[in-house]
Amino acid sequence: MRLKPGLSGLLLHFTAMFTRLLSCVSPLSLPPSFPPSFLLVFFIGAAVVFFLIARRSVPETGPPSSRPPARGSVPCLPRVPVLGSLPWLGGGLPPHLLFTRLARRYGSLFALYLGPHYTVVVNDHQHAREVLLQRGKDFAGRPSMVTTNLLTRGGKDIAFSDYSPLWKSHRRLVHNSFTLFGEGTRRLQDIVLSSVDSLCAELLSGGRRGFDPSPAVTRAVTNVVCTLVFSATYRHGDAELQEVIRYNDGIVQTIARGGLVDIYPWMKVFPNKCLSKLKECISVRDRLLSRKLEEHKASLSDGDPRDLLDALLQGKTGSGRSQTSSGPQEERITDDHVLMTAAEAFGAGVETTSTTLLWILAYLLHHPEVQQRVQKELDEHVGGERAVCVSDRGRLPYLDCVINEGMRIRPVSPVLIPHTAMTDSR
Ligand code: HEM
Repeated sequence: MRLKPGLSGLLLHFTAMFTRLLSCVSPLSLPPSFPPSFLLVFFIGAAVVFFLIARRSVPETGPPSSRPPARGSVPCLPRVPVLGSLPWLGGGLPPHLLFTRLARRYGSLFALYLGPHYTVVVNDHQHAREVLLQRGKDFAGRPSMVTTNLLTRGGKDIAFSDYSPLWKSHRRLVHNSFTLFGEGTRRLQDIVLSSVDSLCAELLSGGRRGFDPSPAVTRAVTNVVCTLVFSATYRHGDAELQEVIRYNDGIVQTIARGGLVDIYPWMKVFPNKCLSKLKECISVRDRLLSRKLEEHKASLSDGDPRDLLDALLQGKTGSGRSQTSSGPQEERITDDHVLMTAAEAFGAGVETTSTTLLWILAYLLHHPEVQQRVQKELDEHVGGERAVCVSDRGRLPYLDCVINEGMRIRPVSPVLIPHTAMTDSR
């Protein structure tokens, strides 16, 4: 799994959150029905696989110069007109298992057609490193899809937006804004530790009775993101917090289900329950975040940013002055970009982080010897007098491995977000 440079600060805070949780883990017991990660994040989720969708649909006819490059070198599933390879992708297996099975027959790099879209599945880590890191720029594009266009006001976010100079400067702005709260400062760590204190108190309040920790963990993670993004910290049961959790869950579930409409956009003209639910959740999200944005604009000063919204608003004015203020609207970072960035911190950050924490907790419950070894390492290198912090990470290699192993066995977004090829690449 790749740590995104701009977000690694936030992910590193797992360490702090996680070790504080450990002290509560012993009396916990998960119900036998503890759900598998249903978070097929953003579309079709699963293992070490991801898509590269060629930028152009394959023209079946036309002059040779308009055709995409020869694709014969990559083994390809059979296909039929309109449906492409879809008839060979059934069987109800989640995509990662299906792709792993197909890789046994077609090899670790193989192609298929999602309807008309030529798609390459990269199914081993050497190739994944090559396309994501060594040739990252060649594959930095994102496909345009009905659901994610709705979600992001036509690509005004980072995760689903296609590669462009504007995307690059937006991403730089978000990176800088995160840095203000992450690497090199204690602010994010303090936010996380304060939320973990409340979470531990809540988990311990049940005594030795068995219970499901997932609502409490989701609430704690949502609270961290709310504090980070717009400085709100909610108490358990707060109506606004419940609203954030509800709409966020609705968005993740509907986007995770994806659907044919992303392959055949014309299908959006037909009634679609999933799309209606997505639209409803988006409108609740936008009402709440727009209100927060307006409040922030009204009270914004030149001083230290209070939170991510402040940092984005300050940075947006700066970047507008230095490079894009005189350009047309579509080349500038706008309020929509700020709003979609805030929304993405919830969409991309809450379910991923809570599901990962819950899986690691579950594994620790079933492997008490690992739990003991982590505790021993903490006792030796941190002690019981203070909270563990991010700077302890280098002294806690076993804990680091436990966290990485949790993310390896139960990756929440194993097929990543689809990439598109920007250019021919050999
Ligand atoms: C355990 C926690 C997390 C996991 C496992 C995770 C996983 C991922 C994965 C697999 C991708 C797709 C990478 C690609 O397609 O190349 C991604 C992208 C992204 N994630 Fe996360 N994520 C986590 C937490 C977060 C958090 C907390 C935030 C924000 C607050 C966040 C924001 C983003 C953004 C903005 C992108 C798009 C980055 C880009 O395209 O440059 N993620 N994440």
